[in-house]
Amino acid sequence: MTNNEIWVRAPAKVNLVLRVLGRRPDGYHELWSLMQIVGLEDELRLRLRPSVTGIRLHCDDATLPTDDRNLVHRAAKLVLEQAGLAAGVEIHLTKRIPVSAGLGGGSSDAAATIAGLNTLLGLGWSVETMARAGGMLGSDIPFFFFAPCALVRGRGEQVLPLTVTGVRWMLLVYPGFPIETRWAYERLDATRQNVRPVSPAHATLARRASVAWEDVIPLMENDFEAALAPTHEVLQELKAALVAAGAEAALLSGSGATVFGVFRDEASAVRARGSLSQALGHQAYVVRASSDPLPCSAEPAISSLRLD
Ligand code: C5P
Repeated sequence: MTNNEIWVRAPAKVNLVLRVLGRRPDGYHELWSLMQIVGLEDELRLRLRPSVTGIRLHCDDATLPTDDRNLVHRAAKLVLEQAGLAAGVEIHLTKRIPVSAGLGGGSSDAAATIAGLNTLLGLGWSVETMARAGGMLGSDIPFFFFAPCALVRGRGEQVLPLTVTGVRWMLLVYPGFPIETRWAYERLDATRQNVRPVSPAHATLARRASVAWEDVIPLMENDFEAALAPTHEVLQELKAALVAAGAEAALLSGSGATVFGVFRDEASAVRARGSLSQALGHQAYVVRASSDPLPCSAEPAISSLRLD
């Protein structure tokens, strides 16, 4: 890292719990979600370019837009506007997280952009200020400033960090098609009769600073599963296949289409990937999930950029 350049890692997330409650007057839904980052990361290199103005984004995935349709571009623009600066910023984005897959890749990239520019430009923004800026761009973005694990409520802007003690390994299976979040919410509204309240067992989680994986696993659920079952049968099949391959639990992440299984150790997750990927031919990733700080490296991750 030099004074005008920084590398930031942007981890994927899964939703261990995703309850979608009532629709709000602003058209969004009230959420109750337990989110956890996992060891699958995009990478961003941010560089200040004093000789030019504006934002230049380069991405190794040619299918993604690099103009202001990309959340990274929008995040950089917002930071410069809010800081009242006209600096030139060049960003190289390396994608590893599948796109529109329920893994929060675009949101994490945007959070990493805000955190990276905060450091690079010496803005001194608190995590709350960065999360508020992120929340203006997307509902999942504030979470990443309070990762690795947090309870997320409201539209996504109320984030309460939580420690999950112990380690689990996850097998993420991406079946190869995107699901548009807005469409998934519409399906949810169209297919359900009523909104179940948050259960007392879930509500208890909100009152604890620390929980064990053994407490969380029985509470794993995602309201999008029932909503998407009629149109995407493969999601239920994947879930059943993960449990049959030894997962302690399996769940859809976000609004899909990634389904993940939770395993006690890496070897079990690798074994399950072997049997499943041969049978199904989907993209599958074995990743670690814990509340430990991310492993040390020369490049800062978002969580190590926390300035509070
Ligand atoms: O905030 P974000 O752009 O990620 O949201 C994408 C879409 O998901 C929104 O346009 C909205 O339809 C839906 N959404 C919602 N309630 C939330 C978050 C997202 O209805 N809390």
